[in-house]
Amino acid sequence: MGNKEICLSRETIAQRVRDLGEEIDRDYPGGSLLVVGVLTGAFIFTADLVRAVSVPLEVDFIRLASYGTGTSPGELRLTKDIETEVRGRDLLLVEDIVDTGRTLAWLVEFLAKKEPKSIKICALIDKRERREKEIRIDYPGFTVEQGFLVGYGLDYAGRDRHLPGIYRMKSTP
Ligand code: IMP
Ligand code: MG
Repeated sequence: MGNKEICLSRETIAQRVRDLGEEIDRDYPGGSLLVVGVLTGAFIFTADLVRAVSVPLEVDFIRLASYGTGTSPGELRLTKDIETEVRGRDLLLVEDIVDTGRTLAWLVEFLAKKEPKSIKICALIDKRERREKEIRIDYPGFTVEQGFLVGYGLDYAGRDRHLPGIYRMKSTP
């Protein structure tokens, strides 16, 4: 772990996930909630979040690929759509981290065409330094000003997703 330092411990994350679950319970009393996790980064957060929610819900996943090099953003393309009927449902998009905001802006526009009753966003981390698109995060987990983070689903070149806490890389890629 010499190249990274702890940013959010598993206990800190677990407490925040419990609080977010309670908020979601209050806001969706007995509705038709459809939780859509953004693969791959949000797979762990989605799994923990839905278990912190008590109201009835369904879970589906969506995946985008970005064709860029390194950290420079490229074209976004859908590689896996959701398979659940969306029309008239309350849709909650669950993302790991919002950086430039391009991914969520793309997804909200794409999913809105399926005519859900509502779309809200839950993002574990709101990372502000590189934001390009204005995104309203209805359920923000944590705000992190800067740095490249790994763990709890977040990866660097496919690695470190399985770490239970979130770490900041000391030498940013
Ligand atoms: P955006 O489209 O720039 O908001 O980027 C969103 C995606 O970039 C996230 O879903 C992550 O997959 C990835 N990403 C952005 N920042 C980080 C980070 O610090 N660590 C790991 N992945 C990141
Ligand atoms: Mg992602």
